[in-house]
Amino acid sequence: MSAHVEGALGAPSRESALLMADARVGLGGPGQKWLPVRWLYDEVGSALFEAIAYLPEYGLTRADERILRSHARALAARLSRGVMVAELGSGSGRKTRWVLEALARQSAVRYHPIDVSAAALARCRVELGEVARVEIATHESDYLEGLSAVAGERGDEDLLVLFVGSTIGNFERAAADDFLAAVRGVLRPGDALLLGTDLVKEVPRMLAAYDDAAGVTAAFNRNLLVRINRELLADFDPRRFDHEVRWDAGSRRIEMHLRSRGAQRIAIRAAELEIRFRDGETIWTESSHKYRPDEPAKLALRAGFRCAAQWSDAEWPFAESLLVAV
Ligand SMILES: C[S@@+](CC[C@H](N)C(=O)[O-])C[C@H]1O[C@@H](n2cnc3c(N)ncnc32)[C@H](O)[C@@H]1O
Repeated sequence: MSAHVEGALGAPSRESALLMADARVGLGGPGQKWLPVRWLYDEVGSALFEAIAYLPEYGLTRADERILRSHARALAARLSRGVMVAELGSGSGRKTRWVLEALARQSAVRYHPIDVSAAALARCRVELGEVARVEIATHESDYLEGLSAVAGERGDEDLLVLFVGSTIGNFERAAADDFLAAVRGVLRPGDALLLGTDLVKEVPRMLAAYDDAAGVTAAFNRNLLVRINRELLADFDPRRFDHEVRWDAGSRRIEMHLRSRGAQRIAIRAAELEIRFRDGETIWTESSHKYRPDEPAKLALRAGFRCAAQWSDAEWPFAESLLVAV
């Protein structure tokens, strides 16, 4: 039996209870089946995401790292000394090293990575725990819950929030506006947000980034079903679901789906659910919205920030925008 679901003997963990609620809504309801992107990141999912960053097709992480590495000093120079840093969805924090090192040259830094994945945070502690003059305190929680906790701990220092890697792309556009406004609501005027956005590029290049030849992204996607089997006592056969990647030109987003091979019925015992799939029916598991270069500044204005600087990469169109709370 899973470590998370105690079956008839006990209550599920908080995370499994949330997954169960999302499965009821997203898989049990009528229309397009879907699940929130956060469930892709269990221990295996976080490890597979790390591997994706090394794939030749997935230029996104390397572009982001080139920007952070080249402009970390310019970024630090624009911030007041003695900032506290919070990172939303830090993952392993590998690229963040450049920012932390540049800030730590100016003064000691308190760094707060926030992530729903305990495995990602453990890797982050290993990756960044040794950076000189950086003190690290991890938060295993949802973005806004973690950010509110961090903001509650600070004194007079300014806060720099990192939301890099184009994780904002996982949000629908209206939800991205609401999310940034909620982040702004936790901040004080003068605090900063470094926002990474992957930019629109040639469609075959974007499709390949989410459908690599080695099948690592397909494994990342299918692992969601393995997770549901383990945590909610379901009987998905991941081999009977194909990894499918689509470009929606109207919404300018890449979508990841799991497509059912044939009609099938799946039992999710912990949720007392039976899910029916038609042949070819999909579960929508991730969206990655792509931005035009001028969009982050507009998004910033709508949410109560001004765009103070933007840096981009020439090899793989990607932008990091420094937004200051007004
Ligand atoms: C696309 S990865 C990016 C990781 C890293 N920032 C990078 O740029 O490589 C998204 C990260 O956000 C985390 N995450 C997803 N949904 C989250 C949520 N609702 N609250 C906190 N973290 C979340 C995932 O566990 C994952 O580590």
